[in-house]
Amino acid sequence: MRIILFSSQPYDHDSFTAATLPVGAELEFQHSHLTLATAPLAQGCAVVCAFINDDLSASVLQRLAAGGTRLIALRSAGYNHVDLSAAQQLGISVVRVPAYSPFAIAEHAVALILALNRRIHRAFNRTREGDFSLHGLIGFDLHGKTVGIVGTGQIGAAFARIMAGFGCQLLAHDPHPDPQLQALGVRYLPLAELLAHAQIVSLHCPLTSDTRHLINRQSLACMQPGAMLINTGRGALVDTPALIDALKSAQLGYLGLDVYEEEAALFFEDQSDQPLQDDVLARLLTFPNVIVTAHQAFLTREALAAIASITMENIACWAAGQPQNLVTA
Ligand code: NAI
Repeated sequence: MRIILFSSQPYDHDSFTAATLPVGAELEFQHSHLTLATAPLAQGCAVVCAFINDDLSASVLQRLAAGGTRLIALRSAGYNHVDLSAAQQLGISVVRVPAYSPFAIAEHAVALILALNRRIHRAFNRTREGDFSLHGLIGFDLHGKTVGIVGTGQIGAAFARIMAGFGCQLLAHDPHPDPQLQALGVRYLPLAELLAHAQIVSLHCPLTSDTRHLINRQSLACMQPGAMLINTGRGALVDTPALIDALKSAQLGYLGLDVYEEEAALFFEDQSDQPLQDDVLARLLTFPNVIVTAHQAFLTREALAAIASITMENIACWAAGQPQNLVTA
């Protein structure tokens, strides 16, 4: 059984070669993203292992099916980029890694909060230039602040527990409240109420047709003036041009992004010797109160090892006729 990994990076090579492969499996590492143009590389591969910025639209799936692909093994939790109805019609199964380390992503969200609040990015640059002044570096105590969590699944719950440790008041919005979090003191509210009361809002819900641009001009206007917004979910949960206007007016006081709606053409590659063509991202990067990381929240040793081993288990179970972690339309 040939398994091709699209969008593979050196760290994928390390973690997947260290994982236990299904019997008779052969791995092929392909640095390119999966697109209509690169889909022929999967000719004869029963399994395509794909990541978040691979194109899994109907036309690409059709090309893969024609080349003999029967399984898409996502090495991600999110599956918003897969045309699940097309996969079903073509007889292609789709599996994912529902949880590998919720702590990795939750802790990265907290890293963004701490860095933005205490201006660590500015202090780092300053002290290296011999500037030991403190002007513009005033932060706030997290203790006692109100944090709003949108989506309290695995990652949102891990994030809630960390923020409870800081002594924050926790509000949440989720169609399925978690009783364990309620016991911890988390109060579930409609989104508009959460936005109106939280000084920090962190997004941990999936991207769906309901959540696309959940944070837009109207919702930004409902937030506390000078609030902090953290997005480690998916780029399209927020309307990025609206964020820029809110930053310019200081309605938004801090912004931490690990994901960006147009990231597919940019993230995971060194583009430092080329002019940045994305004017929206270029503008975002000019704000001193914005930190953008290039979709690295998942990037811990523990998460990478778990992604590789669960993906291999998913493939082995599918090959044995007992699929697990299936995603259906
Ligand atoms: P999960 O499925 O455990 O939790 C998602 C939660 O969001 C559920 O409780 C669900 O009820 C809730 N939800 C659904 N619609 C909602 C809405 N309209 N408003 C509020 N809540 C809503 O998923 P998990 O593992 O916690 O991951 C969350 C998201 O984080 C993923 O869908 C993915 O997009 C993103 N992610 C980002 C990573 C990164 O490296 N930046 C890595 C892994 C996941």
